[in-house]
Amino acid sequence: MTIHQDPRAESAVVAPAPADYSTFLHLDALLAATEQVPDHPDGRFFVLVHQAFEVWFELIVHELVAARTALHADALPEALHRLRRVVAVDRLLVTQLDTLTTISPAGFAGLRPHLGTASGFQSVRYREIEYLSGLRGRGHAVVAPPGSAAAARLDRRLREPSLAETFRSLLHRHGVTDPVRLLHSGRPDSALLAVAEALLDHDEAWAMWRARHALAVERLIGHKPGTGGSAGVAYLRSRRDERFFPELWQWRTQL
Ligand code: HEM
Repeated sequence: MTIHQDPRAESAVVAPAPADYSTFLHLDALLAATEQVPDHPDGRFFVLVHQAFEVWFELIVHELVAARTALHADALPEALHRLRRVVAVDRLLVTQLDTLTTISPAGFAGLRPHLGTASGFQSVRYREIEYLSGLRGRGHAVVAPPGSAAAARLDRRLREPSLAETFRSLLHRHGVTDPVRLLHSGRPDSALLAVAEALLDHDEAWAMWRARHALAVERLIGHKPGTGGSAGVAYLRSRRDERFFPELWQWRTQL
């Protein structure tokens, strides 16, 4: 789908497109995967909402990798551009959790037997976001079966530097020996400070996601165990205060 705009024209001129909208976006293939749903009034909704989250997770993973590459190359404007996009999507996903409140506890109880042991707990992309950001292996078990493609994907992320490590190296390269002073400077023109704040925005958004998800789950299933085998809300609460970049929070205490 190509839209060529003639700068001299008052309105956009749409050239003959090489492919139509649906073909360009592979919509038939994409949406075919939304058709197999549990035989339940909320079945299609439940599947589509989770799929929508996974599509956004995929984008966040992509953008985090690009941000990390840019930080390695000291390309701070590019890193900021990527991080700001990540944060915009993060915030969208916190709001997207509101949709879950349109399932009733009774509705979810009817849906639950269709789910078997499937749970967001097993979301590989969600773990990739954690691993890429800097939250690794604390408080949760890796749920990908050994030898699976998912396990390989997660192992790879664990071998790569996280954004937290990449940011530490960046500060080191720029001679920042006392990050508290960087924060203290509060200089709006400091690219390093802008990166630090964008990382904090990302961290804050995920803290909000975890809290919002835990509340939505409590509203739906109370304190019943999860389909993924955890204690449910007690487990989710135990992870609520995790941080991707704990230093960025601690430095504030030292200001
Ligand atoms: C009907 C709505 C939902 C319920 C009742 C629910 C319930 C739960 C529960 C009980 C857990 C703990 C693990 C377990 O034992 O299963 C969990 C984890 C998780 N859920 Fe949900 N969830 C819902 C919707 C969603 C949605 C829409 C997403 C988006 C992908 C999602 C993503 C996750 C993730 C990523 C975890 C792992 C969190 C962690 O390990 O810190 N959940 N969910």
